[in-house]
Amino acid sequence: MLLTLKFAMSTSKYPVAIMAASALDDGQCQEFHHQQQSGLLIRYHGQVHAYLNRCPHQAKPLTDTGSAFTSDGQLLQCQQHQAIFTPLNGHCITGPCVGEQLTSIAVLEQDEQILLLGWPRQL
Ligand code: FES
Repeated sequence: MLLTLKFAMSTSKYPVAIMAASALDDGQCQEFHHQQQSGLLIRYHGQVHAYLNRCPHQAKPLTDTGSAFTSDGQLLQCQQHQAIFTPLNGHCITGPCVGEQLTSIAVLEQDEQILLLGWPRQL
């Protein structure tokens, strides 16, 4: 499922609610859009994390299907050249960009909502 966030103004203040916390089960990955970019919300071992949906290898999307989790739900994998990332911190542990990491997005789970706290600056 693809979730698109539309904001009335490009100068919107944070925090911004992305989705209901109950809609993201453990081991689930949800794509969302903000500032014309794609992000991935994941819940791993109960905690919510978010990363840009952009691989550090060639700046291509990790996933076009909405989920970057491996079939066992323990790691994230880029669909392009199969780089593997740890869900907790986005570090690439194997593949063509080993040692690099996904760009983290600040999120917070509060009052049954997942809140976007900001957006990474363009590189
Ligand atoms: S673009 Fe992700 S591994 Fe190459």
